[in-house]
Amino acid sequence: MERLDKIISQSLNISRSDAKEYIKSGLVTVNGTAVKSANEKADAQKDKIECDGKAVCYSKFVYIMMNKPKGIISASQGGEKTVVDILPDSMKRKNLFPAGRLDKDTTGFVLITDDGDFAHRILSPKNHIPKTYTAVLDKPFDSDVIDAFKNGLSLKNDKCLPAQLTPLNSEYTEAQVIIRQGMYHQIKRMFAKFGITVIELKRTAMGRLPLDLSLGEGECRYLNDEEIKMVENK
Ligand code: URA
Repeated sequence: MERLDKIISQSLNISRSDAKEYIKSGLVTVNGTAVKSANEKADAQKDKIECDGKAVCYSKFVYIMMNKPKGIISASQGGEKTVVDILPDSMKRKNLFPAGRLDKDTTGFVLITDDGDFAHRILSPKNHIPKTYTAVLDKPFDSDVIDAFKNGLSLKNDKCLPAQLTPLNSEYTEAQVIIRQGMYHQIKRMFAKFGITVIELKRTAMGRLPLDLSLGEGECRYLNDEEIKMVENK
């Protein structure tokens, strides 16, 4: 059960005080009856909640897949344009943040949510959730690099978990990289150890869920329950 003003403000993307006004004016009905007290609680899964005759869609948390373009930072605030800033207005709501960071010049799958526990579960290195990337490199790598990734590289004071490196072209200048943690510039630093520069980097999957290829850069969509589980590798 959630407070009615919370349900209305989140689902209509309006302030709590505006939601209270709507409720006081009798526009909001629960199971066909106008409810004039904002303190009233309702069960958004079971109760039929309407505002001005239109069904209200409410979910406690949202999970959004975005295909991040270059030049946008994965943060919820900052001096520069963020992935949260470029969400369509209809998807904006309070407390959204990206679960995990991509560099400003990295593209691909960013998961934006307001569910802190979920974000913690998918980001904790303890849970070993794989994050899959494709990388374009300035020079080829060889089997020594593949083995070093597999054995867990040391980067300054950080020890990387075993990572999987697979060539995607015969020149060995494009690769799929799977890592299970999210250290700062991790993939770029892993290649830099071998004198290789990452020219392009794109995240293509989180857990078992691939980036939806129908999403153009900057586009996004909600995940369904099945897809949310796939991110957790379930
Ligand atoms: N590794 C990097 O170097 N950059 C990213 O954006 C993600 C992983």
